[in-house]
Amino acid sequence: MIEEANRLHTVEEYYFSKKLREVNLLIANGKPIINLGIGSPDMKPPQKVIDAITNSLQDPNAHKYQSYQGLPELRETMSAFYKDHFKVSLNPATEILPLMGSKEGIMHISMAYLNEGDEVLIPNPGYPTYESVTKLVGAKPILYELDAKNNWSPDLKAISKLDLSKVKIMWVNYPHMPTGALPNTYLFEELVAFAKKHHILIVNDNPYSFVLNDNQQSILSVAGSKEVCLELNSLSKTFNMAGWRVGMVVGDSCHISNILKVKSNMDSGMFYGIQKGAIEALKCTKMWFVTLNNVYRERRNLVWQLADALNCTYDKQATGLFVWAKLPAHLKSEEFIDKVLKDNHIFITPGTVFGSKGEGYIRFSLCASTEVLIEAIARVK
Ligand SMILES: Cc1ncc(COP(=O)(O)O)c(C=O)c1O
Repeated sequence: MIEEANRLHTVEEYYFSKKLREVNLLIANGKPIINLGIGSPDMKPPQKVIDAITNSLQDPNAHKYQSYQGLPELRETMSAFYKDHFKVSLNPATEILPLMGSKEGIMHISMAYLNEGDEVLIPNPGYPTYESVTKLVGAKPILYELDAKNNWSPDLKAISKLDLSKVKIMWVNYPHMPTGALPNTYLFEELVAFAKKHHILIVNDNPYSFVLNDNQQSILSVAGSKEVCLELNSLSKTFNMAGWRVGMVVGDSCHISNILKVKSNMDSGMFYGIQKGAIEALKCTKMWFVTLNNVYRERRNLVWQLADALNCTYDKQATGLFVWAKLPAHLKSEEFIDKVLKDNHIFITPGTVFGSKGEGYIRFSLCASTEVLIEAIARVK
């Protein structure tokens, strides 16, 4: 056998990749599993998006390699989208780089900025990719704890007391996944000041701002933030386009050109039809978001009932594509979800997937129809 690279010893197969094998085996054995685990939107993108990709296929340019930076029209539309929704001005020529989903941006940014031994501040609980990518590039994760008592906001005073001399990047993610917490009023200002003081690049991963939330916020709206901040955004959840793989990284032109150095050596541009579809999505009017959120609101009401039936508690102010629920005292997340999977054939994500601070919590996805959710409630009751 050919020996694998050492870096593979630093990470494990993604939790969902392993667990979904188990869930699929149950399905293959005829068990009627309801999957409330993963946040993959089940509704269609806007029809004009589907029309745009369909029509693009006859264009002779559609099948060629595409620009590494994406179509100028795509970047212009992304710039207008940021202006309209986040009140942030971005130069489409230099301050925006389209990505194949925001997830790849986590790797590109890490490769562009981290050397072996550098340290990275990572939220606990948080999206597991920040930690695994940090390890894959040979850097060291420094987990900072988030707590419900502080609205899942970083305790910058406590973090400032650490030795931050080797810290190069801090990942933040507001609105926060998995908890659905919005940023506290002055959090972005405080983060920018913190980044400047300690010479750290802060990246706000912002894919959930349109789901069950009317007030879109960007860290780049803080004066002077571009020097020390980047933001990732994504069409996956906002426009039901998770499988299309479209996102963006935005920020200062120097940062963007550093990331482009990595990315242009890794892929050869995004498929033309996907870019054409993305342009149409980004131009959607307010009506799209209202309709999308009406559906998610109805589903969330049902998920709250399901959580009640499981004796869990949750924050009704939370936003996003998930309900983050606290288990009754002393129950362990993984034992709990295994029992619900066995007894009720419902798959829910254990909070521990997002770090040790997720112990005692579970995460329900809103990516299931009302009929399915009603069936889930009936099974538990
Ligand atoms: C916090 C967070 N960031 C990034 C992503 C990746 O999204 P994308 O589909 O844009 O790669 C996800 C997806 O679940 C996420 O939850």
